[in-house]
Amino acid sequence: MTNVPTHVAIIMDGNGRWAKERNMPRTYGHKKGSENLKKLSFYIFDQGIKYLSVYCFSTENFNRPQEEVDYLMNLFVEKFQTEFSEYKKKNIRVVFSGRRENLRADVLKAMDTITEETKENTRATLNLCLNYGGQYEVIDAMKKIIQENIAIEKITPQDLYHYMYQDLPPVDFVIRTSGEKRLSNFMLYQSSYAEFYFPETYFPAFDEKEFDKALDIYLHRDRRFGNIKEK
Ligand code: IPE
Ligand code: IPE
Ligand code: MG
Repeated sequence: MTNVPTHVAIIMDGNGRWAKERNMPRTYGHKKGSENLKKLSFYIFDQGIKYLSVYCFSTENFNRPQEEVDYLMNLFVEKFQTEFSEYKKKNIRVVFSGRRENLRADVLKAMDTITEETKENTRATLNLCLNYGGQYEVIDAMKKIIQENIAIEKITPQDLYHYMYQDLPPVDFVIRTSGEKRLSNFMLYQSSYAEFYFPETYFPAFDEKEFDKALDIYLHRDRRFGNIKEK
């Protein structure tokens, strides 16, 4: 399809509320959300989208009760060790964005394994934002620039992408499920000219049909990049 966004970013929100509506624990929502991500991501890549970034865990999510943090970390390890082999088979490269500090050794190991196993894949890229914060990302980019003695006056906005956790194209389309209308520290720099969409649906219920709706909305948006509207 022509004009599909190159880079889609999803803030996967509403797992807890989805579970609560069903009188289930929040953790059940996370489990269903992770199952949905797998199915939905394959569908998104089938639409010809080359880059998909998803918000899995923010730096601020460490403020949640330890029990929930532990559940999520265990879920990540389990998914990366088992189901993620399907990304390998489907020629999808899996990369991570975020700080390694504060992550458990088994989580880091599972992340490194899947990164290594998929690094030569060329069909599309799945960027998992885990222990991710957009403000820290800018700070960490600044640190790299200083450490590498780069002449700061020569740096262009495009150059800065190179120092981010992953050197990916700008985000074209940000979807945040669950009706919340905020970025919560997600890809602040990369989303500077993105289109935004805030469906009410909770993430575990955000299926292929919902994505079709979202894509249709994106395709009808008028992206101007500061220019005037062309007729
Ligand atoms: C998003 O769902 C998943 C993570 C933040 C890890 P939430 O857990 O934030 O669900 P709600 O927003 O409480 O419903
Ligand atoms: C943002 O959702 C983080 C993820 C989806 C992983 P939160 O649910 O943590 O965001 P706030 O706290 O409502 O802003
Ligand atoms: Mg939430």
